[in-house]
Amino acid sequence: MNKAKRKTVIAGNWKMNKTPVEAAQLIYDINQRISNIETKGCEIVACVPFVDIDAAVKAADGTRIKIGAENCHWAKSGAFTGEISADMLKACGVEYVIIGHSERRQYFGETDLTVNQRLHAALEAGLTVILCVGELLEQREQGITEEIVSMQTKIALLNVTEEQMKNVVIAYEPVWAIGTGKTATSEQADEVCGIIRNVLAKLYSKKTAEATSILYGGSMNAKNAKELLSMENVDGGLIGGASLKAEDFSIIIEAAQ
Ligand code: PGA
Repeated sequence: MNKAKRKTVIAGNWKMNKTPVEAAQLIYDINQRISNIETKGCEIVACVPFVDIDAAVKAADGTRIKIGAENCHWAKSGAFTGEISADMLKACGVEYVIIGHSERRQYFGETDLTVNQRLHAALEAGLTVILCVGELLEQREQGITEEIVSMQTKIALLNVTEEQMKNVVIAYEPVWAIGTGKTATSEQADEVCGIIRNVLAKLYSKKTAEATSILYGGSMNAKNAKELLSMENVDGGLIGGASLKAEDFSIIIEAAQ
């Protein structure tokens, strides 16, 4: 199987931005801009704050845009003040969920083990997971990127079956490239996405490794997207800052075609 047979995914990660009214407007604007773009074989996703989900799902109804969330809890329900379950997301019309974003790991005590638990909850609820992995700058400088990213991937996927992998997308996001304007080179992105693919081949099979979409994220923008997305192992993008501008996000969608 080659790259052309894998699903391309262009996902926006809105982080803590936009009110519900603004969210509906942004979905509308993105849809207007992509109306003339052929997007066959490309999933377009907007991962939005919890409170924007309702407005975003309504605004995206009848369009090619799917709505995702930015996190979910591992339990089905219970005494977890301030948390949201995967079943709740599913009931609101959410199709994708980001799990293990480096900002969750950095600021909210997310560990590889809780990433694994959340991932299981999301899959059981019928959501497609965008699993984020990536090294810190110090780790890259120490030459341990491969070890770090492989370990994060393996722990996140503990007890995930080969069948369930059909609903897992992996995003390689070097932490030093997120929100910094410092993008990985296309060779660096391709190399680490390839390393992740090799991990999948060992954990599952060559077939699953070749069928799984692996995205790059970290300061992807309208200017650098085309080159990054042209790489053999890069099947799409997880886009933060540039996904908040309809024009830039639609240029990235176009670049993926
Ligand atoms: P960025 O964020 O595109 O703003 O660097 C990417 C992400 O955090 O997913």
